Amino acid sequence: MLPGSNLKPLFPNKEVPALTLQALKGFKDILPDEIRLWQQLEATARHVFERYGFSEIRVPILEKTELFARSIGEATDIVEKEMYTFSDRNGESVTMRPEGTASVLRAFIEHSLHTRQPVQRLYTIGPMFRHERPQKGRLRQFHQMSVEVLGSVNPRTDIEVMAMAWLLLKELGLAIRLEINSLGCRECRPAYKEALVTFLEARQGQVCTDCERRRSTNPLRVLDCKSENCQAQYSEAPSILDHLCAACQEHFKAVNHGLAGLGIEYAVNSRMVRGLDYYTRTAFEFITTDLGAQSAVGAGGRYDGLLNTLGGPDLPGIGFALGMERLTLLLARQASALPKQTTDLFIAAIGEAALEPGFLLAQGLRTMKYAIALDHEGKSLKSQMKQADRVNARYVFILGQEELQKGEGILRNMTTREQEVISLAGPVQTWATTIAARITP
Ligand code: HAM
Repeated sequence: MLPGSNLKPLFPNKEVPALTLQALKGFKDILPDEIRLWQQLEATARHVFERYGFSEIRVPILEKTELFARSIGEATDIVEKEMYTFSDRNGESVTMRPEGTASVLRAFIEHSLHTRQPVQRLYTIGPMFRHERPQKGRLRQFHQMSVEVLGSVNPRTDIEVMAMAWLLLKELGLAIRLEINSLGCRECRPAYKEALVTFLEARQGQVCTDCERRRSTNPLRVLDCKSENCQAQYSEAPSILDHLCAACQEHFKAVNHGLAGLGIEYAVNSRMVRGLDYYTRTAFEFITTDLGAQSAVGAGGRYDGLLNTLGGPDLPGIGFALGMERLTLLLARQASALPKQTTDLFIAAIGEAALEPGFLLAQGLRTMKYAIALDHEGKSLKSQMKQADRVNARYVFILGQEELQKGEGILRNMTTREQEVISLAGPVQTWATTIAARITP
């Protein structure tokens, strides 16, 4: 008998302490029957990103708090109230990244990546953390596929980046709407802000307290307010598109022209503002009507000047991030099309004497790269056939007591139900080779 099959209880004479350990609110386990969807999403994304010349970068989850405060903006909801910030053991303020862009840019600057290639195309996939109110499609730990292009101011880059996201969503079979806007630049945005503040001052007392506060802290964000009353008030608000400088106008025109040229359907939404302060010029969102309030499956934009603000070279940038929880929720609706994980062979070893040869055979076949499942308890044939079904076994090899005595096993094809007797003469490796020849697709 193998060691471990006769383990002693952990608390022999004591009561096991009652624990009710659960994941934190807004933190979710991704269970084995969901994981195929995640893997499919990631594989499709990597394939598309690499076709557009992007390379993967992996950056730490924990960064100095200052990085996010400086990039995302002190007056944003994320920095004001959503970050997981704490003092580490040295008393330094650190934050679990609420998004990927700041960390990728920090890495770009730290490793002088601009000296290797004039335009860097990077993507990263991983968890992000925001202390938001959890609901469907909104978690506190969520996952993004985040993409950044650093070093190009050309509007073709904006178009290409949106076209890449659009193609990915298309390859995933998702019907998503693209909305774009221009947020202007350092030259023209101050005048727009002023016009907006004047408009808001005239409505003092008629909008929600959040909007009243934002009038002085971050006026553009009022346009994103969810209150119907506020939205009604803002129907007459000045449009940023009427305040763009000549260079921003030209850039936006080129972006519109380029998207149309690629046959990408989109709509201009002059009210779209973003929850992060670093954007300049092009801003965009990928919207679905299928997820209720959490309608943005992805968003991004240009952030010329951000690298410089973070102490790096004065190079432009643009990128986006797609929310993986929201995408998998949408993908789950078409999950029947997803291939299930299969097992090449289930070894049904019945009775004590069959366990050891079954175990050796499994290792032999796994070494030969076959996916093998087996049960170590020697349960009944009926129970093991059920297990074989559960793991989608293509074949079952039955090692029963009677068969063992005769020096043979039975190989059953689970699709055709045909059976074949396999001789157990010679070493286990010989049986493995015989079985492998039968089960190779
Ligand atoms: P963001 O708009 O904050 O942008 O997030 C991008 C996407 O992440 C959202 O559209 C949404 O799908 C997903 N997301 C955000 N928060 C949550 C949440 N609490 N739960 C589930 N999903 C969520 C950014 O993060 C920018 N860094 C994007 C970017 C990259 N811009 C330039 N480069």
